[in-house]
Amino acid sequence: MVHKIFPQLTILLFVIFCLVPLACYCQLDNNDLQEEFYDKSCPMLYDIIEWYIDAASKNDSRMAASLLRLHFHDCFVNGCEASVLLDETEDFKGEKNSLGNHNSLRGFELIDAIKEEVESYCPSTVSCADILALAAREAVLQSGGPYYPVAVGRRDGLTASEEDANAHLPSFFEPLDDITAKFTVHGLDLKDMVVLSGAHTIGFAQCDKVKGRLFSFKDSGKPDPDIDSSLRSRLLRTCPDVETSDSNVVALDYKTTYAFDNAYYHNLINKAGLLQSDQALIGNPDTAKLVNDYSNDPGLYESEFAASMVKMGNIGVLTGEAGQIRKKCNLVNY
Ligand code: HEM
Ligand SMILES: *[C@@H]1O[C@H](CO)[C@@H](O)[C@H](O)[C@H]1NC(C)=O
Repeated sequence: MVHKIFPQLTILLFVIFCLVPLACYCQLDNNDLQEEFYDKSCPMLYDIIEWYIDAASKNDSRMAASLLRLHFHDCFVNGCEASVLLDETEDFKGEKNSLGNHNSLRGFELIDAIKEEVESYCPSTVSCADILALAAREAVLQSGGPYYPVAVGRRDGLTASEEDANAHLPSFFEPLDDITAKFTVHGLDLKDMVVLSGAHTIGFAQCDKVKGRLFSFKDSGKPDPDIDSSLRSRLLRTCPDVETSDSNVVALDYKTTYAFDNAYYHNLINKAGLLQSDQALIGNPDTAKLVNDYSNDPGLYESEFAASMVKMGNIGVLTGEAGQIRKKCNLVNY
């Protein structure tokens, strides 16, 4: 009897003395970020962000999508520390020039302009990483998506890495398992991946990301069998089989291009996902089930997207004395 209970007791004690404090410690770690962090030090912050994004979107209706993607590409490369915003210097190669980002990421000028305005009200107080996280939330909200809490107090990184950007950002031509792995390294699971991919309910992609599906998919001489033929015909108008169409853009969600809704998942079910990596979510039973769930229940999609954005926004944040508060988002202070 004793030798049967003893291992269980050991496990129990292990849990109480080792795992519980560990869990509390992790919790504490996350609590370094607080929603109220700038309430006293920079109360104007939220109005400035809202106003600038609203104005920018009136001129460029794609801006919300670009801001959301910018935050994602920041967080996936050495954490949400605004490394993506840094210009290249003699000391490091910038992430702006990495494979997935070059001639593709947008919104830098807007973030720099927001930062300049914020500096004029509260100098050296608000990090660029926080501005990016708050801008992404505002972009989702202004597109009709869910509100989610953004705890702030992130600090800005001191360097950027083109190599790390090349290694960590998922690409549209990668197999689903490889893409999944790029989420799980950050503690994001399969569900987070499927729900965050729903961000492709807004924004655009360039034809060079799509043409591989339209003419000779994987050198078959035929289009991708998983693309709806009427969507294909529509895409051919913007993305004809000539090199000069490479940088033309097509909507990621052809149905409700500017609305943050769950149409992305309906599209996938109808073989009308734009990118090969989008459509691949149907090709695996676990991800296909989630796609079905989100297409059937917009409320579920909204609440899970909100929860996954909170998780993403906490990846590798710098707090306390780490890093710095940049004066300009494209440059490290010296
Ligand atoms: C799952 C893996 C993902 C892949 C392979 C992927 C790939 C891409 C590609 C290739 C583009 C078009 C870029 C261009 O043509 O210039 C794009 C655009 C976009 N992506 Fe993703 N993405 C992924 C996940 C995400 C996530 C997690 C988010 C945000 C939470 C996101 C948000 C966006 C947005 C909003 C756009 C449109 C940007 C604009 O119009 O400026 N993507 N993505
Ligand atoms: C308006 O948007 C275009 C891109 O669509 C951009 O080139 C231009 O700088 C923007 N103008 C202002 C005032 O933001």
